[in-house]
Amino acid sequence: MKVHSFQAILNKPEKVGALSFVTIPFNASQEFQKKGRIKVKGKVNNCVFRTNLIPKGNGVYILVLDKELRNLAGVNYGDMLFVEIELDEVSNLVSIGASKNLKVSSMDVITAITTRRSIREFTDQDIDDDTIQTIVNAGFCAPSAKNKRPWHFIVIRDKKTLFDLSNNSLDHQVIQGSACCVIICGDKVIQGMNEFLIEDCSASIQNMLLTIHGLGLGGVWCGICSGSKESKHINEVIELPVKIIPIGMIAIGYPAEQNENYDRFDKSKVHYEKW
Ligand SMILES: Cc1cc2nc3c(=O)[nH]c(=O)nc-3n(C[C@H](O)[C@H](O)[C@H](O)COP(=O)(O)O)c2cc1C
Repeated sequence: MKVHSFQAILNKPEKVGALSFVTIPFNASQEFQKKGRIKVKGKVNNCVFRTNLIPKGNGVYILVLDKELRNLAGVNYGDMLFVEIELDEVSNLVSIGASKNLKVSSMDVITAITTRRSIREFTDQDIDDDTIQTIVNAGFCAPSAKNKRPWHFIVIRDKKTLFDLSNNSLDHQVIQGSACCVIICGDKVIQGMNEFLIEDCSASIQNMLLTIHGLGLGGVWCGICSGSKESKHINEVIELPVKIIPIGMIAIGYPAEQNENYDRFDKSKVHYEKW
């Protein structure tokens, strides 16, 4: 995909609440062979973004920079920006670069959902690469708002790092005894709405938990409170870029405990047609 680079001045909004934007110095409709709003991705002063170019008529398009992107890029009204944009075409491939040796499970999906329990005790058995790939691939298969797929998965198997993560948490000692911890992070720029960012990443976590269970392993979701000491520590240890935030972790291993299933259906919480 061709990348267009240009410099442009960030305009000052004419009134309170108006948009701040740069004008695209070429006819984006002709260049990208698209009409209406055009999905693009790129960089402003090296800060990554994903958005729509907005048509203003006669082939003129603008790139809006919201407050968050302006802050991340460290730019202000009147500044000259270095912009790179390219068409953002969502690939329809099922998986890009995933191992060809993804595992399969004989457990049906309903059984997986109804028998999954959190597992917090693990054996010493390591988890092989294909199994890890299968779990992470399940994360990638989750639904996400506007299919933005804002997640990143940090796979930690180094025992020292597992110990460090556990040691610097209030109540995540389970990580220390796990064979692997996946830290699920979200890209605030790609998914600008915080609610959607958390929902997208949570959907990927649940996909992974079900896959873990379906493969005969065990795992537990470890929640991360935003802005907490633990969250800041994770940022430092795994060297997250500013726009990426840790949303949750999964401690994974072969189960050394068995938790019974129980009937969770609660008819007082099911409402038909009205509350
Ligand atoms: C957002 C979220 C955060 C969680 N954080 C933790 C945690 O920090 N430590 C933990 O042991 N379990 C954690 N859990 C797991 C819950 O405790 C567990 O899912 C719940 O008790 C129900 O048990 P089950 O998973 O066996 O069905 C978390 C679950 C969710 C959804």
